[in-house]
Amino acid sequence: MRKFFVAGNWKMNKTIAEAQALMEAMLPQLAGIDNVDIGVAPPYLALPAMVERCRGAGVKVGAQNLFWEASGAYTGEVAAPMVAEICEFVIVGHSERRKFFGETDETVNQRLKAALAAGLEVIVCVGETLEENEAGLTAAVVTRQLTEGLAGITEAQAAKITIAYEPVWAIGTGRAATPEDANRVHRDVIRPLLRQQFGDARAEQMRIQYGGSVTPDNAAELFAMSDIDGALVGGASLKAESFIAIVKAASLVAIIEQETKK
Ligand code: 13P
Repeated sequence: MRKFFVAGNWKMNKTIAEAQALMEAMLPQLAGIDNVDIGVAPPYLALPAMVERCRGAGVKVGAQNLFWEASGAYTGEVAAPMVAEICEFVIVGHSERRKFFGETDETVNQRLKAALAAGLEVIVCVGETLEENEAGLTAAVVTRQLTEGLAGITEAQAAKITIAYEPVWAIGTGRAATPEDANRVHRDVIRPLLRQQFGDARAEQMRIQYGGSVTPDNAAELFAMSDIDGALVGGASLKAESFIAIVKAASLVAIIEQETKK
């Protein structure tokens, strides 16, 4: 059985002080939930404070992006070894990076390789736009993003990778994919690709998160699906109450699944 992984992508939100306040509100309630992997990805500047605060608290801290070169004249960029010095994971290929900052499948692949070389766990984001969805291109787009994004990655390296399926039309819109539609992409498109590249055993262990308007209201239904192994949460991760509720939903579904397996 795969352990749920619920991560909050704070995007460009929270000053250091605000991040500290949010973490103070969350940690007491997250303490003791050990059947879910929990992560937060604050903006770079808040990372040191969050890493310090989360030490020993069972919350992984990650960055939202990194650059593939290890050092050099790349003004404004942050390198994988710099992230790995304090963080456990990094997100690469988020659709907002693709849309606003020219991220391509090729540069996702370069960032992924740099992150893995630095010892980081990586969440690789994929997902189709509304136009692609309406044109029936979801499987084709996700297949291309994964094939090119994961090019050259080995079975051993895949142990450190989580895939996040985030349909672009569901991000920040309040219009989440239905659990069935999301699961169809996870089960029938993403997992088979992982099997093909990494073999059955590794593919079964790899977690596929869903992202896009996940809230306390829809989280449990999503987590109850066979191939939805957690969530990458945007808006609802910015408030303690909603993020905690989503983590607790995962924890509850995990307990129920454990019970019914017996
Ligand atoms: P929302 O949860 O705000 O829709 O954002 C999802 C997302 O992009 C997480 O990376």
